Amino acid sequence: MREKLSEIQAKCFDAVKNANSLTELYNDVKVKFLGKNGEMTAVLRGMKDVPNDKKAEIGKLVNDTRAAMEKAIEEKEIYLTKLEKKAKLESEISDITIPAKKADIGSLHPLSIIKNQILDIFTGLGFEVKEGPEIETDYYNFQALNIPKDHPARDMQDTFYFSENLLLRTHTSPCQARTMEKQRPPIRMVSPGKVYRSDDDATHSPMFQQIEGLVVDKNITMCDLKGVLDEFAKRFFNSDTKTRFRPSYFPFTEPSVEVDVSCSICGGKGCRVCKGTGWIEVLGAGIVNPAVLDNSGIDSNVYSGFAFGLGVDRLTMIKYGIPDMRLLFANDLRFLKQFRNVR
Ligand code: PHE
Repeated sequence: MREKLSEIQAKCFDAVKNANSLTELYNDVKVKFLGKNGEMTAVLRGMKDVPNDKKAEIGKLVNDTRAAMEKAIEEKEIYLTKLEKKAKLESEISDITIPAKKADIGSLHPLSIIKNQILDIFTGLGFEVKEGPEIETDYYNFQALNIPKDHPARDMQDTFYFSENLLLRTHTSPCQARTMEKQRPPIRMVSPGKVYRSDDDATHSPMFQQIEGLVVDKNITMCDLKGVLDEFAKRFFNSDTKTRFRPSYFPFTEPSVEVDVSCSICGGKGCRVCKGTGWIEVLGAGIVNPAVLDNSGIDSNVYSGFAFGLGVDRLTMIKYGIPDMRLLFANDLRFLKQFRNVR
């Protein structure tokens, strides 16, 4: 028994020495020598054959051997744990001097850049910014603006209807009526927003953006309209820009005009952008039809006003020389990145 024990101990110490990893130490040493089916368990089973007078002595020897083996394993375990931790840390080392990956910085969409520029100009002239809903009622989109039920502007092909009374607004003009109902003159407001029409080609999109303008006060005339829009054109394009007012028709303004600006690309000489005419049409406007004032509860005998509606997409295309409107909605980064540093 004595020899057997020292033989097992020697084998165990050897195995401890040879174990190169914690897994090896566990499988090839701990389990093999101290485990349920291990060598020491076999020795303990043999205790019953030891004569009684030797039992105490041999028993102590067994315990001491077991303790010595456990201690050897434990020490090696501490050593291997440290070693493996060190190797792990070394393999995961990171070089903090490597330059960081640059995050791609986003930028405003060209339509937002232009919308902000336009709003800046009008707020600088004393206009307030108001917003209205994109889903409108028939009343605000049409009736309040003097567009009766049978008017051609209501053609089903142009308007997206949800029901007889609900639709996607076809222009930002409903915001005129909404503002006049709530606010007493003097009113000076601009209202930006998305509008929808069933139209889709290189110069028309089913969704586009407008900015509505409305001024209501005593003694507002066509001169005020011309002065404001001329000032706007000069600030938006450049100080040499000229404006031209052509007679037109809108049910909610009387008289109505279509406003052209001298082409900022060729300075009015005629080029591809202005199709050789030297002028580019940018907005519709006019003196608020007295019927519209009265519909909204403003006395047209006391007050008068002017209104205009301009297309943000169109002004963006003109200012940046963008040939196809669809580029504005394709979300192609090669296109969008060109506006990165534009404010
Ligand atoms: N609402 C008109 C349109 O969408 C533009 C406009 C607004 C014209 C205000 C006159 C006055 O075409």
